[in-house]
Amino acid sequence: YPLEHPEEMDWSFAGPLGTYDRGQLQRGLKVYKQVCSACHSLDLVAFRTLSDLGYSEEQVKAFAAEYEIEAGPDNDGNMYMRPGIPSDYFPAPFENPEQAAASNNGAAPPDLSLMAKARGITRGFPTFVFDIFTQYQEGGPDYIHALLTGYEEPPEGVEIPAGTYYNPYFANAASLAMAPPLSDGIVSYDDGAPETVDQYSRDIAAFLMWTAEPKLEDRKQTGLVVMVFLVILAVLVFLTKKSVYARKH
Ligand code: HEM
Repeated sequence: YPLEHPEEMDWSFAGPLGTYDRGQLQRGLKVYKQVCSACHSLDLVAFRTLSDLGYSEEQVKAFAAEYEIEAGPDNDGNMYMRPGIPSDYFPAPFENPEQAAASNNGAAPPDLSLMAKARGITRGFPTFVFDIFTQYQEGGPDYIHALLTGYEEPPEGVEIPAGTYYNPYFANAASLAMAPPLSDGIVSYDDGAPETVDQYSRDIAAFLMWTAEPKLEDRKQTGLVVMVFLVILAVLVFLTKKSVYARKH
């Protein structure tokens, strides 16, 4: 268990009517591309799906083309590369987990595609009863934000393994092999959002929620329609019952 519980943030995608903030997702993508992608893969995300973030087909094509994708061995057995196209997936920064671990003090940086769900901690009784109705799903993004903003000096007398960094929000131990990846100003935003560790962490957490659950908005909208339908159906069933079982004099 983590030593500290993540702070619960206000996410635009929370609640039964929640939607993603496109501008925030675009900023999060920028943070992933410029910072996290140096170590973390995003294996399950195809470039074409970035149109969900509000990008045009042309912009998606241009974005994909910035990546080099392995296109298979040529006649001499050498791997050759080609520019990415929208149907490609984000290429991983390392060849395989062994290489990833070797470059990071033995701890392979995990794939981030489903991280927001993988660390979507559930809350204990009685809160989880209400969470069913409010569709509370924000434990994962809260965790990612807390982890990225939560690095500190180890408290007096606490020894941590060499090559690890103290972070009381880390789910598995008191320190982890990832050095604090963000610092103020390292990613520039063009929409006026603050260029701070806190803002970067919010944006990358929201972006990773989208990669983990790209159909969240559809799910919530369908859920609402279903609830309205069920209420109407319940009223009709009640009236039917009243009429069928009514006393006839
Ligand atoms: C682990 C996010 C950048 C190396 C993790 C974890 C998350 C994460 C959520 C998993 C924590 C857990 O298991 O609960 C991010 C984000 C980044 C970023 C959002 C960009 C803002 C980086 C960079 C590096 C890196 C640039 C390499 C220089 C690692 C390693 C681990 C890790 C080695 C495994 C740590 C361990 O299990 O001890 N990261 N990361 N990360 N990350 Fe990152």
